[in-house]
Amino acid sequence: MPRLNGKVAFLTGGAAGIAKASAVEFVKEGAKVALVDINAEALQRAEQDIRALGGDVLVLQADVTQEESVKSAVESAAARFGRIDVLVNAAGGSLLEDAPVHEMDIEIWRRTIMLNLLNPFLCCKHVIPHMMKNRSGSIINFSSMVGMVGMYRPAYAAAKGGIMSFTKTLAAQYAEHGIRANAIGPGSVRTERTVKRYQNKDWMLADAPSPAAKERRIVQSLYPFSTGDAIDIASICVFLASDESRMLTGTTIAADGGRSAYLKVYAGD
Ligand SMILES: NC(=O)c1ccc[n+]([C@@H]2O[C@H](COP(=O)([O-])OP(=O)(O)OC[C@H]3O[C@@H](n4cnc5c(N)ncnc54)[C@H](O)[C@@H]3O)[C@@H](O)[C@H]2O)c1
Repeated sequence: MPRLNGKVAFLTGGAAGIAKASAVEFVKEGAKVALVDINAEALQRAEQDIRALGGDVLVLQADVTQEESVKSAVESAAARFGRIDVLVNAAGGSLLEDAPVHEMDIEIWRRTIMLNLLNPFLCCKHVIPHMMKNRSGSIINFSSMVGMVGMYRPAYAAAKGGIMSFTKTLAAQYAEHGIRANAIGPGSVRTERTVKRYQNKDWMLADAPSPAAKERRIVQSLYPFSTGDAIDIASICVFLASDESRMLTGTTIAADGGRSAYLKVYAGD
């Protein structure tokens, strides 16, 4: 029996990276998927890829930082599939301009928080009533290793830290409705975006905020699990979406190859 047989998943950022890989795995496990993304071209490609697997897919172009867009995407998905069982809040990411606090432009702080913290709240707000109708659901939020240990990008670290306590709160508030909420905190994951950003290794090392951080990065890059692929995180999403994880709620899974375990708190790395 496929592990997600008959389930309907709503995935934000579904046109690329971790969410697209998760959508592919969900479909292989018998789920139907609604992919929500701001990038229309990438959505079209994702739709073709999932149809080629025989998957039942709906693509919705929307900016998930805007409440009206979220509301209408959720209503379209619910109308098409009749239910929503799984919410994957993956749209997110950091901005290169996310500078040390005393140099931070307030607009960079605002945009980062809107994409990484306001957006998951909006999606939960509009999807949860559909889950409550069925007295079941699994919410999968995206934190990051940096939410656990800090980072030299303060707005992103604050948003991803906030996701962990938001997830705990969701778990507590909706347990009586049969809804679970968990988060995943990836370390470094190869996606088109991160490969493009970090393809020039020298640039990545040059980006290290101190010589000590640079040395740590060189050493860490030699660890066997230091960088993962989207499929590594997609597999965790399948588990959290499935009833196999029914004892898990309110937790953040550190999917970082151990980095948050062996990193002391280096605000600079
Ligand atoms: N890749 C990593 O190394 C890594 C590490 C830690 C945490 N994460 C987190 O995992 C999640 C997925 O990351 P990824 O690397 O797969 O991302 P990605 O950049 O590959 O994909 C993100 C998708 O979100 C879409 N998107 C961006 N803004 C949007 C908006 N306003 N409305 C709708 N869609 C929007 C983009 O078009 C893109 O398709 C993010 O929340 C990210 O912060 C990723």
